[in-house]
Amino acid sequence: MKNLLRVLGGEALDVPPVWLMRQAGRYLPEYRAVRARAGSFLELCYTPELAEEATLQPIRRFGFDAAILFADILLVPHALGQELRFVEGEGPRLDPVGDVAGLGRLRPVDEIDEVLAPVYETVARLARSLPGEVALIGFAGAPWTVASYMVAGRGTPDQGPARAWMYRDGQGFGRLIDLITQATVHYLDRQIEAGAEAVMLFDSWAGSLAPEMFVRFAIDPARKIVAALEARHPGVPVIGFPRGAGAMYPEFAAATGVAAVALDSAVPLGWARDTMSPSDSSSNSGPGPGAPEGAPGVALQGNLDPMLMVTGGAALTETARRLVAAMRGAPHIFNLGHGITPDADPAYVEQLLRAVRG
Ligand code: CP3
Repeated sequence: MKNLLRVLGGEALDVPPVWLMRQAGRYLPEYRAVRARAGSFLELCYTPELAEEATLQPIRRFGFDAAILFADILLVPHALGQELRFVEGEGPRLDPVGDVAGLGRLRPVDEIDEVLAPVYETVARLARSLPGEVALIGFAGAPWTVASYMVAGRGTPDQGPARAWMYRDGQGFGRLIDLITQATVHYLDRQIEAGAEAVMLFDSWAGSLAPEMFVRFAIDPARKIVAALEARHPGVPVIGFPRGAGAMYPEFAAATGVAAVALDSAVPLGWARDTMSPSDSSSNSGPGPGAPEGAPGVALQGNLDPMLMVTGGAALTETARRLVAAMRGAPHIFNLGHGITPDADPAYVEQLLRAVRG
């Protein structure tokens, strides 16, 4: 079995599998070339041959253990009928959905494939073209994070517009979350049918939710998505990434049914292991004393600071080795705490791989 899938199944490996969030992207000259050929970022996402190429580039160059589909979390709102464009140097812009009336103007979930079909085609191509030992990860944005862009119409520092709607009209906002939840189940179901072997849910802005709202709008939708996928595709693992969840991480790990959680760089890995890892991977006896009751334990992914991919040096090698040592004997997927940035140096990715793989 592929190393990534073994770890997602609860095995601890001597050398953890490695991949990096945003491993296909602007820090690679070959990505910038294919992006220029596509004309625009969205065109790249919706052109299967080019999206396949962008996905494969970091695999060819670095030999990662997993490939992540090249696409974007904002394709779901786009497929639901929201206008979407990426403004050079400024990020995404959508026409905001600010209230329940705005929900009525969106397209029904069973029509999203009219827009998303090329993404499934990319997955199918990758399932054929990837080297045999490399696992294929599909993904979607988690409902809360996607909603934060749909409501504000852009990225925001504090997700203010979505949080305001949530408190003013929790029921109406809940309808938006439910709609995205259904669309996400459908979208990930199709990715798995096309050949994705694991899927990841990116809740990049989970850290702005107060605990009770985190339960309602991060944990509950993730639990529903995991359950619906498990019913249709038993055994296909889901990786949850509630970035910034802090002290709520263990509850997320215990309550959602995910196979793994991805940790941001602020989380102490030793604490994460004590509260969320199976305490002994061979006995399946559950995580340590700090864990919520009845928690089975999950694999952990992360959590190197992406800045080290910009600065390199002894700090990179030492930190990477420390993280590997902290997780020895427990199921661990080596990754960053967030996406690699455009100013990262590909030479430091090589250095990282040497540090992790020895
Ligand atoms: O290599 C991979 O990880 C696969 C592809 C991938 C992209 N975006 C490509 C991309 C994945 C998994 C994402 C996820 C994504 N997209 C998230 C969640 C992860 C995170 O970083 O928190 C979010 C919040 C988005 C939304 C998004 N997409 C923003 C805010 C932006 C603009 C900011 C930026 O980094 O430019 C994007 C654009 C984007 N998505 C690019 C890439 C390679 C850069 C666009 C370009 O090439 O011009």
